[in-house]
Amino acid sequence: MGCGGAMYTDQLVLTAAHCVNGTGDDTGITATYGVVDLQSGSRVTRQSSYVYSNPGYSTAAGGDWALVKLASPIPGAATLPIATTSAHDSGTFDVMGWGSATEGGPQQRHLLKAQVPFVSDADCRTAYPSMIAANEICAGYPQGGTDTCQGDSGGPMVRRDGSGNWVQVGIVSYGLGCARPGYPGVYAQVSALSTAIAAQAAVLGGTPPGGGRTYENTADYAIPDRGAVSSPVAVSGVAGAAPSALRVDVDIRHTYRGDLVVDLLAPNGVAFRLKNASSSDSADNVIATYTVNAAAVSVATGTWQLRVQDMYASDTGYISNVKLTF
Ligand code: ARG
Repeated sequence: MGCGGAMYTDQLVLTAAHCVNGTGDDTGITATYGVVDLQSGSRVTRQSSYVYSNPGYSTAAGGDWALVKLASPIPGAATLPIATTSAHDSGTFDVMGWGSATEGGPQQRHLLKAQVPFVSDADCRTAYPSMIAANEICAGYPQGGTDTCQGDSGGPMVRRDGSGNWVQVGIVSYGLGCARPGYPGVYAQVSALSTAIAAQAAVLGGTPPGGGRTYENTADYAIPDRGAVSSPVAVSGVAGAAPSALRVDVDIRHTYRGDLVVDLLAPNGVAFRLKNASSSDSADNVIATYTVNAAAVSVATGTWQLRVQDMYASDTGYISNVKLTF
């Protein structure tokens, strides 16, 4: 273990500049994805192919961010949207990583997480007179005790936005020791750096089309016996094609799910089969996450529809929720 990071797209990892050796071709970084236990047999790994380290970064200027391009995408990777305004630069944050659990302690095999409150720039400057208010954000308790630490660098500091979606507000950067009273952790302030991060990600060939924004329809639509119904999801403000791996979360309540054929209809009319009928599957409900791998054949903006067809008589139900992640 060396550093943490968060998936910005399915092929770009957002981490800290001080975690990497500058900009250029770099096949020397191994990213481990999708597991809490770094030794887990179900971990996904990728080598890096290229690194972009913020050229403006220095301890005097802040801006501790870098993008690591992976040799190949991680299909269906869960990506973390970055904060694009300072609206979420307050409150309580979640921090996480495989770094030391105590100052000077060993790296961790299992991911740890903690919650830390926002610390104002003025208070943070008491601890670190040269902290960069414009692009650094601090978090921790006055009495210490909870913090990120060595090996957590590059990992995300997150909170939920007003819609309940996770958003990345910080990148673990530095601190004096760990969890000491009066010395909060200092994080690169993502909202102040987001324009540059997004621009560079576009250059590296991986803009999350909607930045991880979600669109959903939480209204209920009754599924008539041996009939069909669709729940529309209106998507706006996402430029260009849908993501190559579109995440679709569905919640369908039904008393015999084998009756159901489920498709996602794109704005361009293409239908993607999510689930076939199966007369022997007598279980209730379809509560599932699907990845539509060819969704990029459609533009993102427009009305998507989750269509449910009931192929067999007697059981009924309703579409409870559909959520698309762009
Ligand atoms: N620079 C450290 C690293 O490379 C992270 C330190 C975070 N320290 C803190 N007290 N929050 O892993």
